[in-house]
Parts: sequence; C-alpha cells; structure tokens
Amino acid sequence: MTSFLTPVGSAPAAGKTASPGRFAAATSILEDAVPAGAGVGFKPDHLSAILDDPGSVGFLEVHAENYMGDGGPPHRTLERVRLDFPLSLHGVCMSIGGPKPLDEDHLARFAALCERYEPGLISEHLAWSTHEDMFLNDLLPLPYAAETLDHVCDHVDRMQEVTGRRMLLENPATYVLFDNSTMSETDFLAAIVARTGCGLLLDINNVFVSATNHGYSARDYLKAFPLAHVGEIHLAGHTEQEDDEGALLLIDSHNRPVADPVWTLYDEVIARTGPIPTLVEWDSDLPDWPVLRAEAESANAILRRHAPSAPKVRHATPA
Ligand SMILES: [Fe+2]
Repeated sequence: MTSFLTPVGSAPAAGKTASPGRFAAATSILEDAVPAGAGVGFKPDHLSAILDDPGSVGFLEVHAENYMGDGGPPHRTLERVRLDFPLSLHGVCMSIGGPKPLDEDHLARFAALCERYEPGLISEHLAWSTHEDMFLNDLLPLPYAAETLDHVCDHVDRMQEVTGRRMLLENPATYVLFDNSTMSETDFLAAIVARTGCGLLLDINNVFVSATNHGYSARDYLKAFPLAHVGEIHLAGHTEQEDDEGALLLIDSHNRPVADPVWTLYDEVIARTGPIPTLVEWDSDLPDWPVLRAEAESANAILRRHAPSAPKVRHATPA
C-alpha cells in the first residue's frame, strides 16, 4: 500500500439525505477511502499475484456490471481482494448521457454493490449505451447543449440519490463531434458539477485520444478542465489506426501500456493539482501482473514527485 499519501475525501461517506446539494458540502472521509496513490483495474486472472506481491498498488477498481449477479466466483474473488484493498466501483452501462430515465433495476443493483463492498469511489461515464430495449457495447457520445445537460443532471442526481454517495463523472474518448453542441465538453462538465455536486473522473488517455482525433490541443483542454473537482484520474493505453482518409485515428483500447504523451500530460496535471487517486486501466490483452504493477509504480513515482506538504488544488467544494 502507498503510505506516502493520505486518503482524500473525494467520495464522501454515504448519507441518506436526498438533496443533491449535500454532496457538494460533505467532507467526511471514509475509514477505508481510496488513497491518493496509484491503483489498477482488477482482473481475476491477477488475483493470486496481487495478493502475493501488490507492490505499491494502493487500491483496485472493478466494473460494477461484472458483479451484478447474486453470488458465485466473482463475488468470492471480490470479497477476498476487498479484505486487502480499498475499492473504486466503476459503472459502464448506466447510460447517464441518454435521454431516457435511468434503468431503476440496474441502479438498484449498483446501489446494492455499494452497500455490500463500501467503495471509496463510485463513477460512471458521460456517455450513453442504451436505446429503447437495446443495450449497446459502446460508450457513445452526446451533444453538449441545454437539453442534454438537463438529462445528464437528472441522471446524476438520481444516481447520487439512490446510492447515497457523491459520484464521479468521466470525460469520454470520442470519435465524432456534434454540430448541434453549444458548449465545450469542459464547460458541460463544469455545469454538471455546479448543478449536481458530483465530482469528476479525469481520464487523461481519453483527453489525448479525443484531442488527437479531433485536432485540438490536449493541453488547452486540460487548462479548461475543472481540476478542482477531480476525485480520480484514469490512465490507459490506446492503439493507432487510420481513418478512411488515411489520417491518424486513436482508439481507446485499454490493451497496451500508457503512452508517453499521456504520461507527460499526467505529470503536468499532477504538478498543478497535487496527488489524486490514479487508476491504470488495462482491460484486454492482459499482461502478466508485474507489467501492470510497474505501470502503477510509474504513476506512483509521479505522485511522489509532486506530493507537497500542503496541497495546491485539492477537491474543493463546487461553487
Ligand atoms: Fe477511463
């Protein structure tokens, strides 16, 4: 476990009041909060290796949808690692960005996991993945405009109300832009934070992928990002392809080491914010445990280098 960094209160302890504003004001620190160090996405293939030699990995993150059955091996495995590690619960199918109300059954299962495993952080994506009765495998983007802002804020409110926790919303990796967007992505995210009191999950690989695909500056995007509300950072690998016209197209594939430009952006962000819980995602073409553990150690080296005695920008409450 990382010992050089103290836990942060980016995900306040559960309460039962329904007012969204309370999430902005809460300051409690979970006894087993996620530390402002490096964690990794947990894969059962790594179970014994993680328990034998966790290195400096300070927390694990799991996809909620992999644990929505009632029992069996997935829960036995998660119960075991939960004994040793703080947990971050990351949803990928809530369809927060869709126009329809959230699926209450799905939400109830997510909330039950919160009760059962007491994650220090919970998060979802600024994206949609359901339409009518269809469940899509992709996290699809949405236009950033007044109407979609209303939908997303309603859904964030509902997720926070049912779980009794402040959630983090993740910026997406995108491959298309919408002509009818009237706001930048960073302004859209800031507006969600202001209205709901949620926090943000800053995926820096997603920033780099989107910026490259759309031809804008990742650094400019990060300058505009509301960093004071970031409760977790994601790092991941991406792959390079060509689009139909031969231009470079990056895919958020989570199957490779974190790319050098993403490490550079991460270093620059942490220099500004101070340490923030940082998760290395690796979801396919899984490496042996020492490779993933080394990625976490690289993140921890940057976090250590920028660990001040007094934080610079830390999880301030939204205005
Ligand atoms: Fe991510």
